[in-house]
Amino acid sequence: MAREFSTVGVVGLGTMGAGIAEVLARSGLSVVGAEVDEAAVARGRGHIEHSTARAVGKGKLGDSDRARLLGRIRYTTALSDLAGADLVIEAVPESLELKADVFAQLDKITGPETVLASNTSSLSVTEIGVHTSRPGKVVGMHFFNPAPVQKLIEVVRTVVTEPDVVDDVMDFVARLGKTPVVIGDRAGFIANALLFGYLNHAVRMYEQRYVTRADLDAAMRFGCGYPMGPLALLDLIGLDTAYQILDTMYHQSRNRLHAPAPLLKQMITAGLLGRKSGRGFYTYD
Ligand code: CAA
Repeated sequence: MAREFSTVGVVGLGTMGAGIAEVLARSGLSVVGAEVDEAAVARGRGHIEHSTARAVGKGKLGDSDRARLLGRIRYTTALSDLAGADLVIEAVPESLELKADVFAQLDKITGPETVLASNTSSLSVTEIGVHTSRPGKVVGMHFFNPAPVQKLIEVVRTVVTEPDVVDDVMDFVARLGKTPVVIGDRAGFIANALLFGYLNHAVRMYEQRYVTRADLDAAMRFGCGYPMGPLALLDLIGLDTAYQILDTMYHQSRNRLHAPAPLLKQMITAGLLGRKSGRGFYTYD
């Protein structure tokens, strides 16, 4: 019988985790959002409140629907509060060590039938899953930024993920109003494997002073119909996240296309992380 997934845990309420929690609550699910401390919980909650207030402002969500949506999300700093979840989606920063630790803890806390999913963008889901006693119930569920808007979710199956787990997660993704695609556990999955060589190339063109940032972005928006140019998109993704994705892909493939452009590292060191820090290639209010 297909799994229901009515209570879903989200670990990590940064840009992606908060967006994922919003998507789940919007679909009527009961959500438990976990973060490391109260300050991080407050940031995650603020992100969800801001995003849903914006939806109300645009007439896409009623005030009472927003209140119900927010009421479906419980916040905690204790992973043990995820004990009753049918599915847990991990969205902590892109560090294998960190994700392995979260999965090992979730494995002890949750029931043996709970499906554990990672929102990793580039790490190996197989390597994360082996830190549990149930690698057959471990999948990737890769959302795109901004999660409430982007329709795609890449469902990543490892060589040991049980086929019925993949089927049930695919059905669940469709229930969220999203489009699932399934892919084996390869670096960058589908979209990032194609996208990040392009983004990295854009940074190299810019750092070599061939072109201004505005003209570079305008070329791809108005010449190719992309919703945003590559430098604006890097600011949205976060330069630190983009660097980690490139670095992981480069180490796996040794493809020069993915060797992170030096400017990315310099900007990160200087604290220019993109929208989340107020400044990246562009400046934000
Ligand atoms: N949360 C919720 N809704 C949001 C939002 C957010 N953070 N940002 C935008 N929206 C909504 C707006 O409310 C608006 O909705 P309506 O049209 O219904 O009013 C809609 O999205 C469009 O937004 P805007 O009018 O403000 O601006 P826009 O038309 O320029 O769209 C965008 C903004 C959705 C970000 C669009 O530019 C876009 O799709 N850009 C490309 C994003 C992309 O490529 N994402 C993938 C990155 S790669 C990744 O995420 C993978 C990884 O592992 C890093």
